[in-house]
Amino acid sequence: MTTKELFGKIYQAAQNCGYEIYVVGGYVRDLQLGKNSKDIDFVVVGDAMRFADQLKKELHLRTLVRYPRFGTFMTRYYGYTLEFVNAREESYSSHSRKPVTRQADLRSDLSRRDFTINTLAMDISPQGYGRVIDVYHGIDDLQKGVIRTPLEPEQTFADDPLRMIRAVRFAARLGFTIEEKTFKAIRKIRDRLKIVSQERITDEFNKILMADAPSAGMRLLDESGLLEIFFPEFTALKGVEQKKKFHHKDVFYHTLEVLDNVAAGGGDLKLRLAALFHDIAKPRTKRFSEQTGWTFHGHEVVGARMAKAILRRMKYPAETIEYVAKLVGLHLRPMALVDEEVTDSAVRRLIFLAGNELDDLMTLCRADITSKNPNRVKRYRNNYDRVVQKVLEVEERDRLRNFQPPVRGDEIMRMFDLQPGPMVGKIKKFIEEAILNGDVPNDHDACVAYINQHKEELLS
Ligand code: CTP
Repeated sequence: MTTKELFGKIYQAAQNCGYEIYVVGGYVRDLQLGKNSKDIDFVVVGDAMRFADQLKKELHLRTLVRYPRFGTFMTRYYGYTLEFVNAREESYSSHSRKPVTRQADLRSDLSRRDFTINTLAMDISPQGYGRVIDVYHGIDDLQKGVIRTPLEPEQTFADDPLRMIRAVRFAARLGFTIEEKTFKAIRKIRDRLKIVSQERITDEFNKILMADAPSAGMRLLDESGLLEIFFPEFTALKGVEQKKKFHHKDVFYHTLEVLDNVAAGGGDLKLRLAALFHDIAKPRTKRFSEQTGWTFHGHEVVGARMAKAILRRMKYPAETIEYVAKLVGLHLRPMALVDEEVTDSAVRRLIFLAGNELDDLMTLCRADITSKNPNRVKRYRNNYDRVVQKVLEVEERDRLRNFQPPVRGDEIMRMFDLQPGPMVGKIKKFIEEAILNGDVPNDHDACVAYINQHKEELLS
């Protein structure tokens, strides 16, 4: 079904209710930018709940999800995701997270939207098909690449403070700038973000991180003062300190470079978060030594702990949290393996610890090379390639990925006539260590023989 046919049917259903209907928001904006989306928002000048019944009947829709409290409903149809909303005015009272809505006409609905580029509406009637209604010069702002609120910025942001982060998101994703007055208002009333739920903030934050070059959005979040509110541990990475002849580089900007590097390689959200958190504990672990200068001992361990706590606060899923903490905790290990005489068992330990995340860990470590000195970059890259080579060699030899000790607990219990208990774990651990040390190959029969050989020592 073409979009025009779809719009024809929807328009007719609205007519049958006696309602006006327009396409609004992201779809119209993206169309102006030459992008065709299958995610379409409509505004209904009338009762959206009554229109839901009408549309369900006329299009024979099977599923239709209603949110009567918000006057919206959504449905899927021929691969399109369609969302309908009452023309409305919506505002948040200063102490509440829940919006209050009132019925409105098209113009005032548009005036209560977030940015001029999102206030465009499209006529889908047969007579005026495709005409764009542009009350707030959204097309002009799209051409100039400007994010600006349709009303006084403070009013638009007071209606929904999440929009302050959305301004950054649109600027970052579209490569636009935030108009000065709009930006000043964000700086001024940034504290209002505190009434917004963390889930909504995190949703927008993720979209900023998924931009082609997320550092631009991170800088805007920082300059606007918003980052300080929901992620103060990150703004704490800023600053360069010089003592004697030693200075350490600004971890904030270094981290943004690592983030962009990972993004340039097509990294997914989890990997981008790992980049964001990899040095998060540097401020907390920073020490100065007269002889060697600045040190950050243990920052990977403290960092993994901090990442867990912060990501939990930000409401990320448990799986993401575990992944990020794991990469942060291991991010120094690959480079620690550059020594010529590094043993197979050290490489094996890394493979074992990183498990399925080994490739991502290697990507993160490569992205972490951000020196401005070309000779140093070359040296690091060469070292790093040597590590990758070693890992591949050991892996090839041992088939270690997804390492599972080849002798299972139930077999150990049978061999020694044991009941379930700590002894079984002890024997499993013993064989695991032996494999990692290279004392026995990662092979079932060899391991059984090895256990039998050490039977007495194990049971004593
Ligand atoms: N909107 C708003 N204020 C918000 C959220 C949304 O005014 N806090 C309006 C905007 O007009 C926006 C439309 O609702 O265009 C749809 O919102 P959403 O789906 O979040 O954004 P899109 O603009 O569709 O962008 P995308 O699909 O890229 O997220």
